[in-house]
Amino acid sequence: MIEQIFDVAPLDEVEEGIFSCLGANERASSYDNKVDAYDMVVGNRFYNRFVWGNWPSAYREFCRQALASSRGGAFLDVGCGSLVFTAGVYAEAENKLIILLDRSIGMLVKGRDRITRIKGFVPNNIVFIQGDVFNLPFKTHVFDTVASFGVLHLFDDKYGLLSELERVKRNDGHLYYSSLVGNNAIGRKYLEILKQAGEVATCHSSESLGNLISTMSFEHKSNSIGNVAYFRSA
Ligand SMILES: C[S@@+](CC[C@H](N)C(=O)[O-])C[C@H]1O[C@@H](n2cnc3c(N)ncnc32)[C@H](O)[C@@H]1O
Repeated sequence: MIEQIFDVAPLDEVEEGIFSCLGANERASSYDNKVDAYDMVVGNRFYNRFVWGNWPSAYREFCRQALASSRGGAFLDVGCGSLVFTAGVYAEAENKLIILLDRSIGMLVKGRDRITRIKGFVPNNIVFIQGDVFNLPFKTHVFDTVASFGVLHLFDDKYGLLSELERVKRNDGHLYYSSLVGNNAIGRKYLEILKQAGEVATCHSSESLGNLISTMSFEHKSNSIGNVAYFRSA
């Protein structure tokens, strides 16, 4: 199964159970040094409720829907991070393959440890990969569902990112992704602060982001809760 999916074979096991598709000099990431801070802030339910207008249960539910759409097939989460919201969902999933990909080894280690705490081990169907969303190491049209939660707002090149997610999704497969947006004053202010800190790209509202994506001729439906836009392929 793995051989049928990878275009570039994972190069090295860089940490136990974590394989990299990047060259040795490309493996560091700015996220490596902030894994614990990320988990403390982003994992906090009140931070999510008051700044982004979502309880973490909304993120988990979206992940469950994405996973259900794959009907037990091959599933990919791009920018999976430390699985702060999703570890419980993936730990219990019976898909034949779940690939959890992130640019940061630190985030992947944290995610692996979360799954291990829940299950006592990493199930055989879960594979951790270090890779880049703009150059995914997979063949074309191989995943039943591709997901990417909370990654799109990091980049101005939305076309490049979404094209790559579409490329690896089967033609009859599903795409689920979410993005922080500035739908109200708190969201806009917070995204502005994060942009000045170099953490995110240009701030969009749900409406402007949806319009931008439809001009790229992707047929993705969206809904919003607070300052988070949720997209899925039509
Ligand atoms: C805001 S976090 C979201 C993490 C997770 N999906 C969640 O919802 O908690 C963004 C994640 O994207 C990852 N990331 C950043 N640039 C990336 C890239 N070029 N390719 C793959 N992942 C990337 C970061 O390492 C980080 O884990």
